[in-house]
Amino acid sequence: MSGKLASEYPSWKKLQQLYDSEHTNLVLKDLFASDPARFSKFSKEYVASSNPSNTFLLDYSKNLITEPILGTLLDLVREARVEEYRDKMFAGDHINTSEDRAVLHVALRGFGEYKISEPGVDEVVPVLEHIKDGAWKGYTGKSITAIVNIGIGGSDLGPVMVTEALKHYAKRDLTPYFVSNIDGTHLAETLRELDPERTLFIIASKTFTTQETITNAESAREWFLTSAKDKSHIAKHFVALSTNEKAVTAFGISKENMFGFWDWVGGRYSLWSAIGLSIALVIGSDKFEELLRGANDMDKHFRETPLENNLPVLLAVVGIWYNDFYGSQTHALLPYDQYLHKFADYFQQGDMESNGKFVTKGGQRVNYQTGPIIWGAAGTNGQHSFYQLVHQGTKLIPADFLAPATSHNPLRGSLHHRILLSNFFAQPEALAFGKTEEQVRAEVGPNASEALVKSKVFEGNRPSNSIIFPLLTPATLGSLIALYEHKIFTQGVIWGINSYDQMGVELGKVLAKKILAQLDKPEDVKGHDSSTTGIIHYYQKFRKE
Ligand code: F6P
Repeated sequence: MSGKLASEYPSWKKLQQLYDSEHTNLVLKDLFASDPARFSKFSKEYVASSNPSNTFLLDYSKNLITEPILGTLLDLVREARVEEYRDKMFAGDHINTSEDRAVLHVALRGFGEYKISEPGVDEVVPVLEHIKDGAWKGYTGKSITAIVNIGIGGSDLGPVMVTEALKHYAKRDLTPYFVSNIDGTHLAETLRELDPERTLFIIASKTFTTQETITNAESAREWFLTSAKDKSHIAKHFVALSTNEKAVTAFGISKENMFGFWDWVGGRYSLWSAIGLSIALVIGSDKFEELLRGANDMDKHFRETPLENNLPVLLAVVGIWYNDFYGSQTHALLPYDQYLHKFADYFQQGDMESNGKFVTKGGQRVNYQTGPIIWGAAGTNGQHSFYQLVHQGTKLIPADFLAPATSHNPLRGSLHHRILLSNFFAQPEALAFGKTEEQVRAEVGPNASEALVKSKVFEGNRPSNSIIFPLLTPATLGSLIALYEHKIFTQGVIWGINSYDQMGVELGKVLAKKILAQLDKPEDVKGHDSSTTGIIHYYQKFRKE
């Protein structure tokens, strides 16, 4: 994060040489055949320091790496001074330089352990307490049965992902809904199912200025008042999660109904803060605390473990190897757990908004690739849609496979789960080792056409990581999320970029505001290229209010 170009490090140059001279020899089949100890060399078991049942295995042996390559990748971590910047982050230094802010989501799950002199850090524990006593009754005295989190980006994706992931632990008498899109359909279709007397709206916005969230919140308030009539009832049905007390009170939500957080909590790192209120309400504050403890344990692992055994660092450098030397454009997250079906969506923002930058902290344009495109879906569904390209397409797509050893829903004596896991084991194996032309010929027989033979070949040598854990618990989920957060941090430091601002979302917002004021009359549509003007005119011709 010195802002230096990564390509200037001696280890980067050495990695380029290693790639040029070695990559044709990096064949997983041969690497495994020549080293019976490969799995034990390139896999690690994580055991959380505060909770031995929170454990998982990371197998990274099916990657196109050797010990010298990994050693050089770890030299890169040293040359980029990742450990120094990690300690700066935990100490509350303002490593978000463009916004002059600390990056302290780790303090939210630090349980007061960190002594950091940053305004707000001492208020973390009291806010957690505030979350704990969240018992509400509606304005007619009826109990609340639905919560609607209105937020977008980091004020939506974390709560959505975690409430889905931990649904097994959910109190089934309270249903969470999430409205993020400004498209009126999202709010309208959600409200259709709800009873205003039993609904609590949680307006989640760090800035409390986000156009989508504020518009949705105003419309929800309008809908609520249509039944409740009296504005004084708003207090019982609207709470805010925000850093902006002034805007919250101006909206009509009192200070007592505001759960605060601080500017050092990045939106995409905020599920640990008051933004996690919907999670705490759905799974209970004890389970929410277990989630935080799981993340805290991974923070300790990241801070204290030597680089060679440091799991976020290992994931980060293996990712850099493909992203910067193999030229991979994307990275897939493939959980074999229906509860984790929003995991990839969550880290799409987490990773892409953090590391999608072409300028270093020092303002230089990078001459290498930074953050990959993150995508994915739950297995086995993905197998029946996009895996064809992953197996036989022309692109190298590194992937992480994740799965629990035990299911929360052991249907038919866990038959479903055994089938699921057989796929979780089979896919990385198929990707890595493929199927040769000889094998295909033996299968199809001598009369098969050449074209058929060729189309059935799997070249293999497609890399992946596998992560397997005993059960998806709040603690394990907390550790897994923090694992990826610190992976993103490590990569950002190596690339010399600021992972904690998001300037790239601004231009579109500004243009949309300008266009909003021009939508009524064709003659008002000014200052655009002919394409933009043309499509706005088409809209004006066909629109109906
Ligand atoms: O537009 C991007 C963004 O600023 C994200 O970084 C953030 O998570 C989201 O908008 C929502 O912001 P807020 O919580 O301030 O409404």
